Amino acid sequence: MRSRRSNLAVPGSNPKMLDKARGLPADQIFMDIEDAVAPLAKPDARKNIVAALNEGGYDGKVRTVRVNDWTTKWTYADVIEVVEGAGANLDCIMLPKVQTPEQIVALDLLLTQLEKSNGLEVGRLGIEAQIENAMGLINVNAIAAASPRVETIIFGPADFMASINMKSLIVGEQPPGYDVGDAYHYILMQILMAARAHDKLAIDGPYLAIKDLEGYKRVAGRSAALGFDGKWVLHPDQVAAANEVFSPRQEDYDHAELILDAYDYYTSAAGGARGAVMLGDEMIDEASRKMALVISSKGRAAGMARTSTFTPPEA
Ligand code: GLV
Ligand code: MG
Repeated sequence: MRSRRSNLAVPGSNPKMLDKARGLPADQIFMDIEDAVAPLAKPDARKNIVAALNEGGYDGKVRTVRVNDWTTKWTYADVIEVVEGAGANLDCIMLPKVQTPEQIVALDLLLTQLEKSNGLEVGRLGIEAQIENAMGLINVNAIAAASPRVETIIFGPADFMASINMKSLIVGEQPPGYDVGDAYHYILMQILMAARAHDKLAIDGPYLAIKDLEGYKRVAGRSAALGFDGKWVLHPDQVAAANEVFSPRQEDYDHAELILDAYDYYTSAAGGARGAVMLGDEMIDEASRKMALVISSKGRAAGMARTSTFTPPEA
């Protein structure tokens, strides 16, 4: 699984920012031709993006381009120009405002043709699906299942708040007047369930108050606690915060690796072929192994190193 703790948004209309992104420690960069780019600037944005991808320098990062959604006039040309121009240096296409599984299938078919006609391995390009309105959320399960290319399901809070008439202008913050919980909980959980049911990553969207790092961490901490895999970053300062919030803490990572090793040992013939055993003060069993595997996978994907090892007891 590719780590996507921090997903850096860069407007394709800004070559300086496309260049600067090369040096930032984000797990993913997505180059935008959609809402961060004015209609008149979209043709140039496509060209800047193709040039930047082919020039390279994004090593170790997932390279994604966000095209315009299927209800506009731009989508097909965005996809064709970017994949024909730089398909070999691209990992995913992000499709915003997805409303139906058919919209994913349409992109899948177009990508397959482009891969065939450009000598690319069929299936090498992934799809990232943004859920940004009521129809998309109602269909999120089918959207996640619509193509094996789908790698992530992404919450788009700004468009979503507008789409459902939420009474707030501050993305990520609670709407004034709602004081009994988290107004986003239902949406986040629906996205997370669809992602987990179909083995996709669940990604939280932007936090627009870029000067408020504490606010960013608070909101990121909520989706991370639920099980989300990462969040968008709009500013270099948010990158480290996202990487920290969406990585396991070192002690949790060490403990997860310890549980995996201990469980492996105790269930083996040498360890007595036991299913439930004590590890320190805690009882571990098959469900503990699964929980540990989640933390350990996230830690390994983030390149963490363990600081302790399991020593089997003397026979
Ligand atoms: C992102 O695209 C959003 O609408 O929040
Ligand atoms: Mg949006």
